Amino acid sequence: MSSTLSIENLNQTYIDPYSGEATIAVGDVSFTIPEGQFVSLIGPSGCGKTTVLNTVAGFIPATAGRVRVGGKDVAGPGPDRGVVFQDFALFPWMTVEANIAFGLKMRGVPKAQRRTTAREMAALVGLGGFEKKFPHELSGGMRQRAGVARVLATEPTIMLMDEPFASIDAQTRRLLQQEVLGMWESQRPTVLFVTHDVEEAIFMADRVIVLSARPSVVAADIAVELPRPRAWRDVQTHPRFLHLRAELLAMLGVEDDAEISVAPGSAG
Ligand SMILES: Nc1ncnc2c1ncn2[C@@H]1O[C@H](COP(=O)(O)OP(=O)(O)O)[C@@H](O)[C@H]1O
Ligand SMILES: [Mg+2]
Repeated sequence: MSSTLSIENLNQTYIDPYSGEATIAVGDVSFTIPEGQFVSLIGPSGCGKTTVLNTVAGFIPATAGRVRVGGKDVAGPGPDRGVVFQDFALFPWMTVEANIAFGLKMRGVPKAQRRTTAREMAALVGLGGFEKKFPHELSGGMRQRAGVARVLATEPTIMLMDEPFASIDAQTRRLLQQEVLGMWESQRPTVLFVTHDVEEAIFMADRVIVLSARPSVVAADIAVELPRPRAWRDVQTHPRFLHLRAELLAMLGVEDDAEISVAPGSAG
């Protein structure tokens, strides 16, 4: 089955259940991610990035417009779409191995096979030897790795990631970005990667899509065109990287990417 992801004229409006007041989060957003492509989605805080991702995940229905995977409308969550959150919410009472195997258990994979796959995934994300540890015994970076491994273990054709490294220190974050790219290169799922970090958005992706402030529209859609495989050592001084970073930061109207703002419909 094709895992091309298409978002067509998506509108998401939240209605306050008490006041009845409407907040248009996502105005009119359309873009298509071809199978196997890695797309970063950036934009000012509150512009609806998480809302778009949650709609693709099937957690919330579209107010208007549609989301399709391989031509089929998304009607709810499904095993084809793996979701990685900022806070991985590992089960604290389960070991690393049991956490990684959890999605497989839900799918009825036999115990012996779950264990084998969980060990392989733990090794792949650099947690070999930590399979029997509990989340509280791990560093933040290790917990993120376990969270990524749990999603990768189920081999989703689409990976949805919402600021997965936002709570990690800068140095570990760069390491994790490289590692996750390495894993992506071996499985090649279609990826929608939400971040507010311009450098991260460029480093990871084939394409960067910029949303305007809410009600959001697509303000820009830019091909990254940096060679792969990528390592920070090479990318950080690459002229294309520096050019894109300057372009995106200017578009978002900031010196650094701490607080970004784009007027609705200001470009593209
Ligand atoms: N469940 C909800 N109910 C009401 N408003 C919401 C809800 N979730 C998000 N919003 C509002 O929708 C807008 C977009 O939110 P969100 O998708 O989280 O943005 P982002 O991830 O880009 O920061 C914000 O104004 C936010 O306050
Ligand atoms: Mg968000």
